[in-house]
Amino acid sequence: MASLTIRKLDEHVKTYLRLRSAKNRRSVEEEVRVILRELIGGREEPLTPFSAPPAASAAPTLQRTSALPEASVTLIIGGGIAAYKSLDLIRRLKERRIEVRCVLTKAAQQFVTPLAASALSHERVYTDLFDPQSEFDAGHIRLARDCDLIVVAPATADLMAKMANGHADDLASAILLATNRKVLLAPAMNPLMWNNAATRRNVTQLQRDGVVLIGPNSGEMAEAGEAGIGRMSEAIEIATAAERLLRPPVPKPLAGKRVLITAGPTHEPIDPVRYIANRSSGKQGFAIAAAAQAAGAEVILVSGPVDLDDPQGVTVKHVESARQMLEQVQASLPADIAIFAAAVADWRVASEGEQKLKKTSAGMPPLQLVENPDILATISKLTDQRPPLVIGFAAETEHLIDNAKSKLARKGCDWIVANDVSPATGVMGGDRNTVHLISKNAEKNGEITVDSWPVMTKEQVAVELVAHIAESVTGKSGSPHLEH
Ligand SMILES: Cc1cc2nc3c(=O)[nH]c(=O)nc-3n(C[C@H](O)[C@H](O)[C@H](O)COP(=O)(O)O)c2cc1C
Repeated sequence: MASLTIRKLDEHVKTYLRLRSAKNRRSVEEEVRVILRELIGGREEPLTPFSAPPAASAAPTLQRTSALPEASVTLIIGGGIAAYKSLDLIRRLKERRIEVRCVLTKAAQQFVTPLAASALSHERVYTDLFDPQSEFDAGHIRLARDCDLIVVAPATADLMAKMANGHADDLASAILLATNRKVLLAPAMNPLMWNNAATRRNVTQLQRDGVVLIGPNSGEMAEAGEAGIGRMSEAIEIATAAERLLRPPVPKPLAGKRVLITAGPTHEPIDPVRYIANRSSGKQGFAIAAAAQAAGAEVILVSGPVDLDDPQGVTVKHVESARQMLEQVQASLPADIAIFAAAVADWRVASEGEQKLKKTSAGMPPLQLVENPDILATISKLTDQRPPLVIGFAAETEHLIDNAKSKLARKGCDWIVANDVSPATGVMGGDRNTVHLISKNAEKNGEITVDSWPVMTKEQVAVELVAHIAESVTGKSGSPHLEH
């Protein structure tokens, strides 16, 4: 499912949303939901609660017409023979769910028409710096910034010279000077133009300025009998380069690592219909499994009974009781990292009734409890196959840090994630968590450090924990740490 970043919407849309949500006393996010529901049907209120800001009501200037884009490019087409390939580039970018708004220089219009670019991009095409329809609200600035990337294809010798020298006497060069977005150039010109000392100087300057170049390739020129370096890269190559800049590959710091995680409660049977349980939802362990998988790890999740979908790309082993959980954990070894987030019942009924226990006049049947296996301690104390990093969770309702520190020592694990689960916190079954990471520092004589994190969603806790793990086992961070 695509996600919408409000921050990236057009300014006038954001203003409209802010005003409308303030008027209706809703969050901006909730207001967007209401608007979408209205559009689909069951309109709750008129679409214009007050007169919309001028840009929203004005002619089709710079307005996005399609649904929510995942990424957007301003494509500047320069005046070279390769401009025809840029029409294909529009298609290639759109295939990748990248929205394209085209700017054609005056010279470009000698090679391709604004109509063709508009038909392929499904957007208005921009050609003129002094266009009153666009410029009533500084359209060139918005074309420069209201996108994720600017692509110039073909980047002619002339356009590159203007860029290198900071000219801004037409729409394309003004956008390139006014942008704070990454710029990708696909140069195309005759080999003599490409090798000319002036072009060489300009290319060096542009690279120093942080502009990214794709190509040019070597091959035959449009001019009969000429060949050499100067052919514009193929549309598909430019689209791939643009996509790499727009969606850089996510780092996979846990690639090659096997992570074993437990999650959820356990159910300890009393008889065939009754069991002892706890309020754990499994959300935290599942979020950690998803975050570790996203960081490239092979993840095995041993889960007690929960009401959650299995995370994608994770091997999930479903169990009921503590003894089954231990069995599956042991069967899943070896692992590089083991994270025991499950709320395992400490006790179980000594002899589970084979039939449903009946009410008798003698009162409640005595329930004799025996201790369950301690999964965290069992795995932490293994001599063979002990995962190099063993992390336990301590759910406490009082003396959180002290209890967690003594648990760390008692169980023999390396880290403890301690959280306060007293009812007032809403952690059990809720979506947020306030945790403290307590770790034993092997390099500092086993010194124990306590790192307290602010209140976060369970997903954020998972991402942060995985980042710490990645740093610890590989020296690489799994994601930018949260400031706290
Ligand atoms: C038929 C023809 C083909 C051209 N091809 C190129 C080209 O491939 N690369 C280039 O840099 N200039 C080429 N030019 C020259 C540019 O069109 C010219 O320098 C123009 O001012 C560039 O405008 P721009 O800055 O809007 O791209 C060509 C000119 C003509 C007449």
